[in-house]
Amino acid sequence: MTHFLDIDQTPQSQLRHIISHAQEMKTARAGQPKGAIDHDRPLAGHMVALIFEKPSTRTRVSFDVGVRQMGGETMVISGTDMQLGHGETIADTARVLSRYVDLIMIRTFEEQTLLDMAEYATVPVINGLTNRTHPCQIMADIMTFEEHNGPIAGKKVVWSGDGNNVFASFAHAAKQFDFDLVFTGPEPLDPEPDLKGLYTTVRDPMQAVQGADLIVTDTWVSMHDPQSARERRHNQLRGYQVNDALMAGANPDALFMHCLPAHRDDEATSSVMDGPQSVIFDEAENRLHVQKAIMRHCLGV
Ligand code: CP
Ligand code: NVA
Repeated sequence: MTHFLDIDQTPQSQLRHIISHAQEMKTARAGQPKGAIDHDRPLAGHMVALIFEKPSTRTRVSFDVGVRQMGGETMVISGTDMQLGHGETIADTARVLSRYVDLIMIRTFEEQTLLDMAEYATVPVINGLTNRTHPCQIMADIMTFEEHNGPIAGKKVVWSGDGNNVFASFAHAAKQFDFDLVFTGPEPLDPEPDLKGLYTTVRDPMQAVQGADLIVTDTWVSMHDPQSARERRHNQLRGYQVNDALMAGANPDALFMHCLPAHRDDEATSSVMDGPQSVIFDEAENRLHVQKAIMRHCLGV
């Protein structure tokens, strides 16, 4: 069974293949309407379940459109609609769903939910974000970087802000795609301890961005963070805002990324988000292309 659970769980050569395949598929359908079906209809006859226990715009729409472009069918299910929220185990849910669908994408809270789904499903499972990681996003980000500025190997990527789930997948990617990752953020919001060794920490953001080829940030309050922590987090993270001064400290051709949704003028200023170095909407578009390649990888089609 080929699941796509995390960037550190898929061999390097397969990650590379997914990105080049995504690029090929993107090029092949350039200029066509979004609803046009890919000529080879690789997912014809396939049913895909898209499960969301948290809100989503990009993941939901890009997976749904991606499956349809490949000639397959989707079923979007919210966590609260299912018996999952009413005491049925993940294991039983996984075994039942596997009798109806060919592929499961799940966005959930605890990583254990994803792992249980993968253990008990008899069809492939894709991670559409957990409290711990967001691998599909970072696959799109690697593709986006390389489209704009060439191979990411040997480049310097600086994450400014919360050491959260999106950072964790960047840390996995740093090893798999061989780039240097620097974390700059306040100590209480340091990344999870198991990621040590995959990145270096520089507390001063201006010092951190020197020589950077890419600056990345994300929301200061993630979906799994309690709203009661909002004010404290804002106070801790204010000094790590990505603004024009911080961008000016990086290499002149450095790119700016944010997985979105953003809180404009909190973690990044609108001047940066809408500025010439920003590739945020290319990242969003590439979710579609890279996830199509991930689904084909999982299904072997
Ligand atoms: N970046 C991302 O995953 O966005 P959504 O939460 O809208 O899916
Ligand atoms: N860190 C954010 C990412 C959203 C795509 C969250 O988990 O809410």
